[in-house]
Amino acid sequence: METKQNTTAVNLCDFEPLAQAILPKPVFDHLNGGAEDENTLRENRGAFQRIQLLPRVLKDVIRCDLSTTVMGQPLAMPVVLAPVACHRLFHPEGELAVARAASEAGLVLTVSTGASFSLEEFASAGPGLRWFQLYAFQDRGITRALVERAEAAGYRAICLTVDSPVSGRRERDLRNGFIRPKHFIDKMLVDLGFKDVPRDMNEEQLQAFVGKALAVALTWDYLEWLRSLTRLPFLLKGILSEADASLAASHGVEGIVVSNHGGRQLDGTPAPIDVLPKIAEAVDGRCEILLDGGVRRGTDVLKALALGAKAVMIGRPYIWGLAVDGQAGVAQVLEVLREEFRIAMALAGCANVREIGKELIFRR
Ligand SMILES: Cc1cc2nc3c(=O)[nH]c(=O)nc-3n(C[C@H](O)[C@H](O)[C@H](O)COP(=O)(O)O)c2cc1C
Repeated sequence: METKQNTTAVNLCDFEPLAQAILPKPVFDHLNGGAEDENTLRENRGAFQRIQLLPRVLKDVIRCDLSTTVMGQPLAMPVVLAPVACHRLFHPEGELAVARAASEAGLVLTVSTGASFSLEEFASAGPGLRWFQLYAFQDRGITRALVERAEAAGYRAICLTVDSPVSGRRERDLRNGFIRPKHFIDKMLVDLGFKDVPRDMNEEQLQAFVGKALAVALTWDYLEWLRSLTRLPFLLKGILSEADASLAASHGVEGIVVSNHGGRQLDGTPAPIDVLPKIAEAVDGRCEILLDGGVRRGTDVLKALALGAKAVMIGRPYIWGLAVDGQAGVAQVLEVLREEFRIAMALAGCANVREIGKELIFRR
C-alpha cells in the first residue's frame, strides 16, 4: 500500500498534536491521560531521556538487519503493537486498519480483550501475526472460551495483563465524564461471550457490569489454571518488581512485559526502563522480556534492547497515527520508528540486534 507521507510529522510525537486536533477532547484525553497526578506517565519519558548511549565506530553498518524473533515468531524489528482497547473510538476502521498496517510492516498486533471487533472478525483484516491480550473474568467459562477461541482463530500468543486488579483513577476521564459509548460496550460484551446482559442498561450501568465481571482474584494459582488451557506461548504483562519477574519465570511463562500500563494504573511507580536491568538479572534468560511505556524514539528501542529487553511495545503512538490517517497513519508511525531505529543502530555501531548489548549504555 502506498503511504501518503504526512510531511508535518517527522517523528512519533509529531503525530500527537495532529491527533489532538482531530479527536474530541474527552477521547484524546482518554488516550493520552494517566492515573492521578500522572507522575508515572511523565517518568516513562523522562527515564528514557536520562539514559545516554556510548556508540562504537569503524564497524560495518552499511546494511543493518533490524529483524528479530519474539516468542519464536519473526518480526521485522523488535517492536510489538501493545493492546489498546476500542480502536473505533479513534477511527471508524479501528483495529482492522491497525491489523493491516502491522501485518504489512511485518509486526505483531496484540489484540485487546476490550477490542471493538470480535476475535474472529480480525480474519477480515487478512493474514498477520496476532497475539491476544487477556483480562481474566470472574466467570471462568468466559475466560476459558476466550483462550480457546484465540487459539482456534490462529492467534500466536496469550498475553495476560496482571497490573489491573482494579482500574486506576484516570482523572482526565473523571473530569470529562468520559465513558465509552453504549453501542461499543454492548458489542464488546456480546463479542466476549456474555449472554443475558440486560438490554436497557445505560453507559454507567454497563461500565459497572464490566467492572464486576472483571473483579476476579487473579493469583498465581489462577495463572496455572489458565496455562493449562493452551499450548500457545504465554506472557504476563504489567510486571515491575524483580520478585514477580522471577516468580513468572519459575511458573514457566514464555515472556513478561515490564510495564506500568503506560502510567494509567498505580501512579508513582518507576519507569519500566529503570527497573529493566534488575529484572533482566533476576530472570537470567529463563523467559523473554518485553518492555513498554514511553517508547517514542528509535534510540528508546536501542536502549531497551541494550538493557535486556528482546523487544518493546508501543501504545499511544500508533493510535495517534490511526486517528490522523487510519491504516496509512499507523503505517507511517511504524515506518518512522523503523527508520529511526535503523539509524540509531548504525550510529551506535550495531549491524544486527544481537550486537546490541549493555556496553552501549554510558555509565557515569
Ligand atoms: C487508551 C489505552 C487503552 C489501553 N488498553 C489496554 C488494554 O485493553 N489492555 C492492556 O493490557 N493494556 C492497555 N493499555 C496499555 C498499553 O497496552 C501499554 O501498556 C501502554 O500504552 C504503553 O505505553 P505508551 O502508551 O507510552 O506506549 C492501554 C493504553 C491506552 C493508552
